[in-house]
Amino acid sequence: STILVLHGPNLNMLGTREPEVYGYETLSDIDDRLKDTAAAHGHHLLHLQSNAEYELIDRVHEARAEGVDFIIINPAAFTHTSVALRDAILAAGIPFIEVHLSNVHAREPFRHHSYFSDIAEGVICGLGSHGYDLALQAALQRIHR
Ligand code: DQA
Repeated sequence: STILVLHGPNLNMLGTREPEVYGYETLSDIDDRLKDTAAAHGHHLLHLQSNAEYELIDRVHEARAEGVDFIIINPAAFTHTSVALRDAILAAGIPFIEVHLSNVHAREPFRHHSYFSDIAEGVICGLGSHGYDLALQAALQRIHR
């Protein structure tokens, strides 16, 4: 099976961006680890980070055409703004888990609402990059069912 990991805007800055909030690991540290885990279970893991909303939307459309089985997405700031990315995921009909490094509920009120949580299989936040590993474990289990 194929799992797609999508990272929204500014996550390319991980490791140097407010490390006390987001941690010291880089995005490639995280993506490499997820790829290894998926491969160890006999699955493919693809990933994309983009600062552009339309690139994430286009990637979701392609994912449907490619037959991607599961999406793990940290929409970053688009979490709180993007009806368009929400609609893309709904249109693709691919099950997904929403991940946030930080505990968005313990932060500014504008981070408390997500355009994704009500349509996600599950939501993980506040556990740093470990949240992606937990999401992948859940995705692997769901793929096997
Ligand atoms: C984030 C939380 C968002 O509110 C923020 O805009 C981000 C990262 C997180 O992973 O904690 O860019 O999605």
